[in-house]
Amino acid sequence: MSNGILHRMLGVPELIAAKIGSYGSGLFGPVDDERNVTDLPVIEGEIPTELFGMFARNSPNPRFAPRGRYHWFDGDGMVHAVYIEGGKARYQNRFVQTRGLALEQAAGHALWSGILEPIDIKNPHGPIKNTANTDLVFHGGKLLALWWLGAEPYALNGRDLSTEGVWDFHGTAKAGCASHAKLDTQTGDLMFFDYSAIRPPYMTYGVANKDGRVDHHTAIDLPGPRLLHDLAITPNYTVLLDLPLLWRNDKLQAGKRYVAFDKSIPARFGILPRRGHGSQVRWLEDDACYIFHTVNAYENGNELVLEACRIADPMAKLREPPSDSPRLDFMDLTPYLTRWRFDLTTGSAKREQLDDVPTEFPAIDVRRRGRNARYAYSPRLARTPTLLFEGFIKYDLLRGTSIYKGFGEGQFGCEGAFVPRPGATDEDDGWVVTFTLDGFTDTSNLLVLNARDLSTAARISLPRRVPIGFHSTWVPGELLGTGIA
Ligand SMILES: [Fe+2]
Repeated sequence: MSNGILHRMLGVPELIAAKIGSYGSGLFGPVDDERNVTDLPVIEGEIPTELFGMFARNSPNPRFAPRGRYHWFDGDGMVHAVYIEGGKARYQNRFVQTRGLALEQAAGHALWSGILEPIDIKNPHGPIKNTANTDLVFHGGKLLALWWLGAEPYALNGRDLSTEGVWDFHGTAKAGCASHAKLDTQTGDLMFFDYSAIRPPYMTYGVANKDGRVDHHTAIDLPGPRLLHDLAITPNYTVLLDLPLLWRNDKLQAGKRYVAFDKSIPARFGILPRRGHGSQVRWLEDDACYIFHTVNAYENGNELVLEACRIADPMAKLREPPSDSPRLDFMDLTPYLTRWRFDLTTGSAKREQLDDVPTEFPAIDVRRRGRNARYAYSPRLARTPTLLFEGFIKYDLLRGTSIYKGFGEGQFGCEGAFVPRPGATDEDDGWVVTFTLDGFTDTSNLLVLNARDLSTAARISLPRRVPIGFHSTWVPGELLGTGIA
């Protein structure tokens, strides 16, 4: 079925269908300049005066025309942010000035090819560019930009997004730090992992303390190279994921990146004391699946509960990825909110799917991370062939209920962030903020929703299109200082 027929069936106007484009164009396409604009117009509602901080999103934004085929994961990191203080808002965007980007800027063109091309072992600067384009976490006074394939993070100044350089955790780094590192806001610990597709150890795990220093690091023995993406934490444990989405070693040896899903291998959930040695991991098993993102985890007596977006078979639609696919079409991204209950006494695992509507990029009140968070705010996948989100589902994980707020026809969004109202006692007393992109006009807003009912508190007009991107974060103003907007 052609995209056009599909869009007509779904009632999405052809205008938007054309603008969706591929992952390198249309709503996903890059922007080419860096801007800093104050006094953003509020086109609906009012900015709550208590809202103080920065909402930022990392995204792939290729600076130069790609060498060969482009994959959405390839683009140079660009951070888009809105700073809010005293009812005013300021927009700023900047590239993450990676070493690779600096070399390409000096050359005036792309030096690296992307992940759809053969591995370029002759590239004098390494076979692949660390674009730091995936995730953001504020830790140790730095806004860290992380990369999905795992490597050294980059430190940005939280007030203006300028890149300070490779972040080595004050000289304590032992290895890289892949997306997604998890911050325990109650202790300041940052739990992270890194992984290798080439050689053992295929995973490493570490903890950086509140001062931004790595005080624990250990190798995790996996049976082979995996494409890994996330972990989860509780106060006492870290949950590592060993999922059977595999880098094919034979293909790697032939200079090709090739990912395969092996349903005969169980999903393994590695439960490790927060500062435990790799030999202490206790692997509990369930049916094969893939997980890009966890929602949360918590301890409940002798149980460890994990909530995540579960994909039963990421290769269900196509067994053999086309070698020339410009998209992620070979991955079947139909994730459903799922809860596992791991019995720490018996080692058994019970799994329950909590919804039959696909959602991804979930957000919670990060102060509840690792504890029993009641609410999750999960973007609902639009019924299009690309990775677009059409609204938020607010899940009440305690009662098993949900409400939905659509962004509106032709409006697309992605990961949001929950911001607590100062002094609030109820977990959902606050706001959910996110960028939206209007497929009709190619313009973007910052949407501020009341978290209780997802009604609109404010819609702030942005001076430029913010492309559909990856991960977002909210940095409280108290961590940035006044005078940010
Ligand atoms: Fe991610």
